[in-house]
Amino acid sequence: MLPEMAAPPSTWSPSAWRAIPADQQPEWPDGEHAREVRERLLGMPPLVFAGEARNLQAALAEVAAGRGFLLQAGDCAESFGDFSAVTIREKLKIMLQMAAVLTYGAMLPVVKVGRIAGQFVKPRSSPVEVVDGAEIPSFRGHMVHDDAPTLAGRIPDPERMVQGYHQSAATLNLLRAFTKGGFADLTKVHLWNQEFVATSPEGRRYERIAAEIERALAFMAACGIDLERERRLHEVDVWTSHEGLLLDYEEALTRRDSLTGRWYDCSAHMLWIGERTRAADGAHAEFFAGVGNPLGIKVGPTATPAEVLDLCARLDPDRTPGRLTLICRMGAGRAAEALPPVIRAVTDAGHPVVWACDPMHANVFRTPAGVKTRRFEDIMAEIRGFFAACRECDVWPGGIHLEFTGEDVTECLGGAEAVLEDHLSVRYHSLCDPRLNARQSLDLAFRLAELMRGEDRPAPGGVT
Ligand code: PEP
Ligand code: CO
Repeated sequence: MLPEMAAPPSTWSPSAWRAIPADQQPEWPDGEHAREVRERLLGMPPLVFAGEARNLQAALAEVAAGRGFLLQAGDCAESFGDFSAVTIREKLKIMLQMAAVLTYGAMLPVVKVGRIAGQFVKPRSSPVEVVDGAEIPSFRGHMVHDDAPTLAGRIPDPERMVQGYHQSAATLNLLRAFTKGGFADLTKVHLWNQEFVATSPEGRRYERIAAEIERALAFMAACGIDLERERRLHEVDVWTSHEGLLLDYEEALTRRDSLTGRWYDCSAHMLWIGERTRAADGAHAEFFAGVGNPLGIKVGPTATPAEVLDLCARLDPDRTPGRLTLICRMGAGRAAEALPPVIRAVTDAGHPVVWACDPMHANVFRTPAGVKTRRFEDIMAEIRGFFAACRECDVWPGGIHLEFTGEDVTECLGGAEAVLEDHLSVRYHSLCDPRLNARQSLDLAFRLAELMRGEDRPAPGGVT
């Protein structure tokens, strides 16, 4: 049976947002060329199906009810220049490793959503940046222009939307092959440990969990359970998501579902609205109010409870479980005190949302040498603040939203590996924000599992 879903207002159409000035959009040099590209995209097959988006929403409804945990993670910005089977496989490996640690550690299903197969557009705090004394437009992602820091490189080109579409299609195809074709089989749990991780303390800790999972599987087999036939042990769902920022692209990928008659943005299973474009009366809210996908909303330190309530009313008027994930990114020192008023307002209004924590985006700073980075300890501090706020308000801390990579980069400071300021330039490959590397991500998963089990809390009697 199909879940009940309210139809969008009858005046809604995928292009209705055009009546409202949209923030953070590129100025295409040739409007006619952009229109022609949109027409072409409109004729291309959807990347995901409406039924899949509904299945993800059902999984998120379970998370909202406290019966699961959301792991949403991937690149800050995907790159046209770093596009290979190896990169995709390494990202999937760390996702599967983290999910295994969390599932085993907290004994809960983990809903896995990648920032992948479409995460090509970036909002910017400043429209310009200064490079070698010259002012050039800030980098807005490969679906808009090149990252080369030159005036020519930063000219928007709508053809890049088509290239982004094709790269997303190929990425999604490989993800589907890996996750359904044997690579994500739970009996391969050891294989996901990369060589450079396996020899580290986190890698060895992971090996111990992997061995326990293997023993549990062997135990079930010994009890006579036919593991071969249990599809869920051999396949996983990894859903796709990206920031729904570039409305020309999102509109062109929007299709009417033949089963329900509802509109879906078929560029990804889940889309989120960023911190800079979340005005309840803005063009992005107008567009996403009309599509049936599960949606994320970033909630930053300046968001008032009233603003968040307006957005919830706009995007989730029917209070559908799993429709909204509020991705809170308050900053290490602020989460514990800034979140409770927002959580209470949303809970009192009856919106059954997933509460997720993005501990990355409010903890960015530049080193004296000018390198953009984040401290692992700040990331953990924000996660602890988020858990404390959720516990105080009696809501389920349902998810985590991270920027990571499967590679051995040196972009975030600290962690068990202790990346130091001097190391940052050694392997800094991010096109935009600094990402956790594979070891830091695994380290974070172990600490998160402890938090979920409540082991971080001092024992009664006040051990510090
Ligand atoms: C992001 O997720 O990469 C991002 C830009 O986040 P925010 O909108 O929260 O700043
Ligand atoms: Co980012």
